[in-house]
Amino acid sequence: MRVLTGIQPSGALHIGNYFGAIKQMIDLQEKSDLFIFIANYHALTSLKDGEALKHNTLDAAINFLSLGIDHTKVTFWAQSDVKEVLELYWILSGYTPMGLLERAHSYKDKVAKGIAANHSLFSYPVLMAADILLYDSEVIPVGKDQIQHVEITRDIAIKFNNDFGDIFKVPEFKVDENVATVPGLDGAKMSKSYGNTIDIFCSEKELKKATSRIVTDSTPMEEPKNPFTCNVYALAKLFLENDELEALKVRYQKGGEGYGHFKAYLNGLIWDYFAPAREKRAYYVAHKEEVIAILDEGAAKARHIASAKMDMIRNLVGIYR
Ligand code: TYM
Repeated sequence: MRVLTGIQPSGALHIGNYFGAIKQMIDLQEKSDLFIFIANYHALTSLKDGEALKHNTLDAAINFLSLGIDHTKVTFWAQSDVKEVLELYWILSGYTPMGLLERAHSYKDKVAKGIAANHSLFSYPVLMAADILLYDSEVIPVGKDQIQHVEITRDIAIKFNNDFGDIFKVPEFKVDENVATVPGLDGAKMSKSYGNTIDIFCSEKELKKATSRIVTDSTPMEEPKNPFTCNVYALAKLFLENDELEALKVRYQKGGEGYGHFKAYLNGLIWDYFAPAREKRAYYVAHKEEVIAILDEGAAKARHIASAKMDMIRNLVGIYR
């Protein structure tokens, strides 16, 4: 089963990204033919700082490898290293009705927020369709916000197949309903744009500062507290086994401890959980050439598939070589 997903290199990763998306990928790499790429062409739609994009692309690769993406099990590359995707993007544009793109929520939302619309923002889903169809992907694990983009991909694939036969696999999206939205420091969804994140690779001091900002109620120290309405508890839950969670619940309900104690406990949980990843990250930061070699190897594998697929498609649509 070919499973494919992409992530934009958009800077520091937070624990919402980890539990919302990356953890599933680490599980999936054991049981599927998993393709993961860093969507740096997509990032161009919003990031107009070349040095920052270069830095973020390599940094994203370092982060994913540090968190447990295993390049011996996954085909892992940077989108821009397989140029065929841009050629397919253009060919698919001819099979994409304007109305399909005009209905895209993510485009409409950005315009509604006053972001100046340019063509790349508008045609973003066609590039995403090219990412998916080029590699005969069958399942696309994504967060809820990307479902419509996979539906657009299906529409484009079906339209192309109507003309040429069974050329593209029509992909399915896969959303992990078990992972509730990870709350941020203020209880709203953790998101970089809300400024309420706990970053995975921050310093110990920054982590302390972040956990100290978690919003709680003002129940006095000696009184029992409700774990189920507490953000500290909701975050701790991500890191705990059932019996440990039960023990924490008992501490809440017993009273005698303040939120400061629970925040300090959470702090320790986060710091320890990501300790192995931090160590690996320090290694990769010092050995960037290894990371680049891993991306090169992944790109070669991806290109091999892409190139055969594009030969067939060029031939079908009549592009002479
Ligand atoms: P991007 O980079 O915005 O997000 C990467 C993935 O993480 C999911 N996600 C979340 N899931 C749960 N909770 C959250 N708070 C949260 N925030 C983000 C996203 O849904 C996504 O699955 N267009 C894509 C990148 C892309 C792609 C593709 C994906 C380009 N081509 C082909 C799949 C297949 C994007 O911007 O994701």
